[in-house]
Amino acid sequence: MNNTRPVYMDHHATTPVDPRVLEAMLPYFKDDFGNASSIDHMYGARAYEAVEKARKQVASILNAKPNEIYFTSGATESDNIALLGVTDKLAAKGNHIITCVTEHKAVLDTAKHLEKMGKSVTYLPVDQYGMVNPADIEAAITDRTILISIMAANNEIGTIAPLQEIGEIAKKHGVRFHTDAAQAVGHIPIDVKAMKIDLLSLSGHKIYGPKGIGALYITGLNPKKNISPVMFGGGHEKGIRSGTYNVPGIVGLGKAIEIAQKEMKAEAERYKKWTTMMLEAFQNECGGVILNGHPEQRLPHNLNVCFPGIESKALIHLLRDDVAISTGSACSTTSVEASYVLQAIGREEEYLHSAIRFGLGRFTTEEAIYHVIYKFRGFVQRLRNLE
Ligand SMILES: Cc1ncc(COP(=O)(O)O)c(C=O)c1O
Repeated sequence: MNNTRPVYMDHHATTPVDPRVLEAMLPYFKDDFGNASSIDHMYGARAYEAVEKARKQVASILNAKPNEIYFTSGATESDNIALLGVTDKLAAKGNHIITCVTEHKAVLDTAKHLEKMGKSVTYLPVDQYGMVNPADIEAAITDRTILISIMAANNEIGTIAPLQEIGEIAKKHGVRFHTDAAQAVGHIPIDVKAMKIDLLSLSGHKIYGPKGIGALYITGLNPKKNISPVMFGGGHEKGIRSGTYNVPGIVGLGKAIEIAQKEMKAEAERYKKWTTMMLEAFQNECGGVILNGHPEQRLPHNLNVCFPGIESKALIHLLRDDVAISTGSACSTTSVEASYVLQAIGREEEYLHSAIRFGLGRFTTEEAIYHVIYKFRGFVQRLRNLE
């Protein structure tokens, strides 16, 4: 372990770029810098080829076709295009969308904007594990429903949604199904065909790719059957997402996905073993620790726990030289807002400010896990003794 830097355990926020990804990207900043749309010469042609290779790599991990992949700047943009684009395109068919209360703000705030524009939105609740009930989704569908948007895996508590069941329901009722899979792709298997997913958002920087790149999967050859463009320009990506291609970013995303596809299974086993070890150690040695999220249907690299009686912000601050961790919820420097995800799963008031989210990653070592357990044990006891 490198003792000069804290152990990084905030991989849900972002991941470091894998050196293999960086290496793949480098030529596209310098020698192969061409515009992928200017293919009349070698520079553009090479950039174009690189973009198309990445498109295949992204499609492969989803079991999609390459021409169903649209490059964007990240999951936020993909979510916006999906929600705004589908609701606009299908406005004549209906004006109702269904989502859930624990979605990322990229979906929730877009949904709120849609409400202001006259659309109707149902925000479904989740159970104590953060799981949305497919029966609730089906019950919420009306003849005006055009879109269901449910995240694949939650960024705070790691709960994985029953995607296939939701996909079946959506198909049965002729409603489009979008999933924000920013935290899921590259970590758990996703098959858009088997799961009957119509639109899927993903992000490069959650899977050891660069920041500022992502993709939107849209089912079928003609995206404009499902979606209206929300920005306009040079007509790139079949007019769905205009703007000069971020070639190094796209190459990095493709490479990151290729690596994840190969290494995901072994990584998941490693993470599962370590998160189980950490939870057991905390439960045995820190007293009264509560797991947030589903005990089994959860992201393998996620562990979110409440340490009762501990102010998580104080703990994070005390540990800042040793471990980089987070509460997982947004807050400003002046006020600490309780996590809306923890509130949605019914966490009692006294636990709302005691949650810590651990996000393990590719370069986490077993030694680091022991170090974190050791540090937590000491600091939790220290903080409790101060009370
Ligand atoms: C579930 C989820 N959706 C969307 C985003 C936004 O992704 P990006 O940073 O690629 O815009 C994140 C990242 O925090 C996320 O966790």
